Amino acid sequence: MIATRTFVLRARAAPTDSRKLLAGVGTDAHVEILAHTLMNALFVAQSHRPDVVVHLLLESTADYSRAIRFEANVMGGIGGFDEAALLGRIAGALDASRGLGKDETRVVEAGVSVRTSGFERVMQELATNHELFLMDPKGSPIREQVFIGNPCFVLTDHIPMPKNTIRGLERLGARKLALGSRMLFASQCVTVIHHELDQR
Ligand SMILES: C[S@@+](CC[C@H](N)C(=O)[O-])C[C@H]1O[C@@H](n2cnc3c(N)ncnc32)[C@H](O)[C@@H]1O
Repeated sequence: MIATRTFVLRARAAPTDSRKLLAGVGTDAHVEILAHTLMNALFVAQSHRPDVVVHLLLESTADYSRAIRFEANVMGGIGGFDEAALLGRIAGALDASRGLGKDETRVVEAGVSVRTSGFERVMQELATNHELFLMDPKGSPIREQVFIGNPCFVLTDHIPMPKNTIRGLERLGARKLALGSRMLFASQCVTVIHHELDQR
């Protein structure tokens, strides 16, 4: 059985308001990280990668965090893989989430859904049927890691994961995994993880 590769990007600075999101490219919010991570997770040249799920957690909000889920095997065309197209899809999902109460989910289109749940809640659910890995340059080397089951790789934007969140993830069974000692962008981590697993 081919394992599904799941990526979670916790973007604490990313606005849940679609207009602010689209205006946030190149600002302190660094929303381009979401587009780049989505692209490197879902696409290869001239094709998309099957068996990949991406959860984008946007946490700069006036009400609830938003968790947008992309499932490659079910998605249709995304209308291009440039930054604007990808951010446009994320903005569309945010618009679709307007009016939802806490912990509600709405399907945006085939393979794309949005919910008003926070990082901890999403991770608790993923922990029930995934092996959790918190990406960290100080973790154990990915090359020595044996993967059994469906791996879920957890990344952040430019804001580090708080220590109490790390402890919470470890209580859920997460292990720290390194891709070398050099600090990479989250989107670069995704490419390296894919490459590493492609060799197995
Ligand atoms: C730009 S980094 C975050 C930088 C942030 N200032 C920090 O200290 O965590 C984005 C994400 O990539 C992960 N990451 C970057 N380089 C890595 C590496 N060499 N091995 C594993 N994870 C890495 C980080 O842990 C983080 O989740």
